[in-house]
Amino acid sequence: MNVIDALNSRYTCRAFKQDPVAQDTVIKILEAANRTPSWGNTQPWNLYVAAGELLEELRKGSLERFSQKVAGKTDLPVPQEWPEALKQRYITVGKERYELLSQELDKEAIIDTVQDRNYRFFDAPVVIFICMNRNLTAYSMFDLGALSQSMMLAAQEYGLDTAPAIMLVQYPDMIRQAMDIPEEEAIVLGIALGYGDSSSIHNQHRTARRPIHEVAKLKGF
Ligand SMILES: Cc1cc2nc3c(=O)[nH]c(=O)nc-3n(C[C@H](O)[C@H](O)[C@H](O)COP(=O)(O)O)c2cc1C
Repeated sequence: MNVIDALNSRYTCRAFKQDPVAQDTVIKILEAANRTPSWGNTQPWNLYVAAGELLEELRKGSLERFSQKVAGKTDLPVPQEWPEALKQRYITVGKERYELLSQELDKEAIIDTVQDRNYRFFDAPVVIFICMNRNLTAYSMFDLGALSQSMMLAAQEYGLDTAPAIMLVQYPDMIRQAMDIPEEEAIVLGIALGYGDSSSIHNQHRTARRPIHEVAKLKGF
């Protein structure tokens, strides 16, 4: 798959098949993504990859906490409000998903299912937890973002789908303990990895982007 095709076809996969992902394939994806550039080649990322029984334990723990209404609290602060234009895009994507899901589910079931799918890590057979030292700045976070996209694009080369999700790291203490993540590292984001279930309604949504003439101002050509 060429890079442009990978960029255009990637989407957030919210329903995975149960098929496991071979460890070799995961390593190939991580090795390719590890070529991502970073400030001064500092490579601020540390990755903790969960699969098999260990991931099932985490999934169980996550669902239990969610059902007991344990409040999630990410290691890093989450945005409290968005500038108006971003807020509108956030609302739009939510509405689009709601309309799609309402073809199969009623209102309450949509809210339950959407939350439940997040807390069950979308049933993915692998979850990659992306971490970095808590004292680093936004520029290192930039490096983690670039690494994340590299992993998601590389995954497609192997026919795999991904879901980057903050909801995967709502219970960082549980993840930290299970994965032996040092206290000085923030658990920033989870990326679910596996073979997407293309028949699931949760995977039918494709999101739009702003027109490029609005995003980029080109001068001097
Ligand atoms: C940092 C980050 C956090 C996200 N968190 C979640 C999440 O918790 N749950 C979820 O379903 N999707 C999550 N997403 C996926 C976005 O909603 C998705 O990328 C966006 O709507 C664009 O859609 P696309 O990825 O299908 O192109 C997250 C994406 C990013 C980059």
